[in-house]
Amino acid sequence: MKNIVILISGGGSNMAAIVRAAQARDWRGRYGAQVAAVISNRADAGGLVFAGERRIATEVVDHKRFDSRESFEAELAAAIDRHQPALLVLAGFMRILTPGFVARYAGRLLNIHPSLLPAFPGLHTHRRALEAGCRFAGATVHQVTAELDHGPILEQAVVPVLSQDTEETLAARVLTQEHVIYPRAIEGLLRSGL
Ligand code: GAR
Repeated sequence: MKNIVILISGGGSNMAAIVRAAQARDWRGRYGAQVAAVISNRADAGGLVFAGERRIATEVVDHKRFDSRESFEAELAAAIDRHQPALLVLAGFMRILTPGFVARYAGRLLNIHPSLLPAFPGLHTHRRALEAGCRFAGATVHQVTAELDHGPILEQAVVPVLSQDTEETLAARVLTQEHVIYPRAIEGLLRSGL
């Protein structure tokens, strides 16, 4: 079985969309793939409840317990590697990863970012898109490389920016599209043999 491990920090709606797609589209039967575990750096991440309800293994590796990024990542990698993932999926995982961690999972590490990369890497993407007067916004699924929010693009979705938009309304419009493109990107990789 090809295991998928998902890292979250919060609500986990992208993780939930991936889990739903995996179950509804029978990723086990079609590709021999399953979401094996959901790991969070925050104990209060809402997505952990959903994953538990779906009988997916959950774990918390709280970054605040560690005095360096490297020691946090060492424990995180140990938790991940117990599931021997074919794919490691960042879904709203809000910690910057060191080049060493990225190298460990090179070629099998994905991220979703709430902008049309290469525009607006980093934080506050929707605020920055509104301030820049963008007519369109969106989201990007990409392979993770050592440089933050860079790496080969797998999928993008575009949404219009409306004149009355706030950061919140734009974020919500983009998020609904994230839920479409993230499962699609993963299924595309599974279909191509991963
Ligand atoms: C999503 O919009 C995702 O693109 C973004 O955080 C949100 C997580 O929502 N990720 C980043 O900003 C990464 N830099 P979710 O927890 O409901 O999936």
